Amino acid sequence: MFDVVLYQPEIPPNTGNIIRLCANSGVRLHLVKPLGFSLDDKQLLRAGLDYHEFATLTVYESWAECADHFKAHRLFAVSTRSTQRYDRVAYTEGDAFLFGPETRGLPAALLESFAVERRIRVPMLPESRSLNLSNAVAVVVYEAWRQVGFTNGL
Ligand SMILES: C[S@@+](CC[C@H](N)C(=O)[O-])C[C@H]1O[C@@H](n2cnc3c(N)ncnc32)[C@H](O)[C@@H]1O
Repeated sequence: MFDVVLYQPEIPPNTGNIIRLCANSGVRLHLVKPLGFSLDDKQLLRAGLDYHEFATLTVYESWAECADHFKAHRLFAVSTRSTQRYDRVAYTEGDAFLFGPETRGLPAALLESFAVERRIRVPMLPESRSLNLSNAVAVVVYEAWRQVGFTNGL
């Protein structure tokens, strides 16, 4: 099983899509406050989520609290400012992926606290700004899950 961490997500439908993606792929989802919405936001629930899809959702008051939870994991920072391609890493169960907020991305100091080989990016055409957050999460999660043979997937 993998873990996805959303650092201070801002846009409810993105988090709604990611909750469903994580439920469908057996990934635990973690949200770091402050959030740009409340968890009963109508726009979040509009993604048509069932209660079981919230089952593996954890919310942290701060990055320090979240980082403490992941200290025994291999945590990858996913950013347009990383240099290592996401598909050139060999992932193993238990790896975790940290994504930045929609309008700001990960703070520079937080990104730079990761070793270069723990910072990954998804290729884009030159001059592109970024992928939508929920699309970036889907691309990375499905590559990691593919590498381990889609464990438990049909
Ligand atoms: C909409 S993007 C943030 C854009 C922000 N202006 C920036 O430059 O980082 C939201 C998040 O999606 C992820 N993301 C989007 N496109 C990506 C890419 N090509 N490679 C890696 N991560 C990406 C990153 O985690 C990013 O923080």
